[in-house]
Amino acid sequence: MSNTLTRSAVTMILALAAAPLSAAADDDPADEDPVQAVIEDVEKACREGPVYMVGPEKAERLAELVREAKPKTVLECGTALGYSGLWIARELKKLGRGKLITMEISPDRARQAEENFRRAGLADYVEVRVGDAKKLVRQIEGPIDFALIDCGASNYYPIFQVIEKKLAPGAVVVADNAGISAGGMRDYLKAVRSKYDSRTEWFELDLPWAKRDALEVTAMRCGPAEE
Ligand SMILES: C[S@@+](CC[C@H](N)C(=O)[O-])C[C@H]1O[C@@H](n2cnc3c(N)ncnc32)[C@H](O)[C@@H]1O
Repeated sequence: MSNTLTRSAVTMILALAAAPLSAAADDDPADEDPVQAVIEDVEKACREGPVYMVGPEKAERLAELVREAKPKTVLECGTALGYSGLWIARELKKLGRGKLITMEISPDRARQAEENFRRAGLADYVEVRVGDAKKLVRQIEGPIDFALIDCGASNYYPIFQVIEKKLAPGAVVVADNAGISAGGMRDYLKAVRSKYDSRTEWFELDLPWAKRDALEVTAMRCGPAEE
């Protein structure tokens, strides 16, 4: 009897000791972070679509820039399914304040993105506006503290011309595809590089449609010409 008790006590102790080890072995960030599970789901859908999105390499940098800027108002032109928006809104939720206003021309994509933000528990931090961002940005009230432009290279400069006056001093503007679509956004790149503090950041990617691309990261303060 006492032998049986001792044996079951030992078995229990061994099981308890092993528990944290097996939990660590199964460590998946998606288990702890409900947003991460949705991000991974949306990333998969985009890769399969394909629906173009920034991808995890550029998204991590984007999230870092948002963390540093601590913006109150974030503008995104080009929502797609909400992949980059999920990364941005997760940072706003961590900050406990701020709003992402994201614009998408396709009503179907906008609806899917809204559903993804809701599933991730980020609906309070995001407003999806449906329509042509070139027109919608005219209605937006400043100051804008952070912007991501990612909706067709030829649209970047017209959008920037409208939001330029609405950007807060020191605001950060990130333009995606500054590598693969540099030719199509030549006017935009020329403007931000000549007037503001702007740099090109390159990334090695693992996307079906691109293996290398850049973000143009611009801070709205005097650039090289005025330094
Ligand atoms: C590259 S995707 C955006 C990807 C998204 N930022 C992400 O990383 O998850 C570009 C999106 O911009 C949208 N778009 C294209 N022209 C637009 C316009 N003029 N206004 C708003 N959205 C536009 C497209 O429908 C597409 O969904």
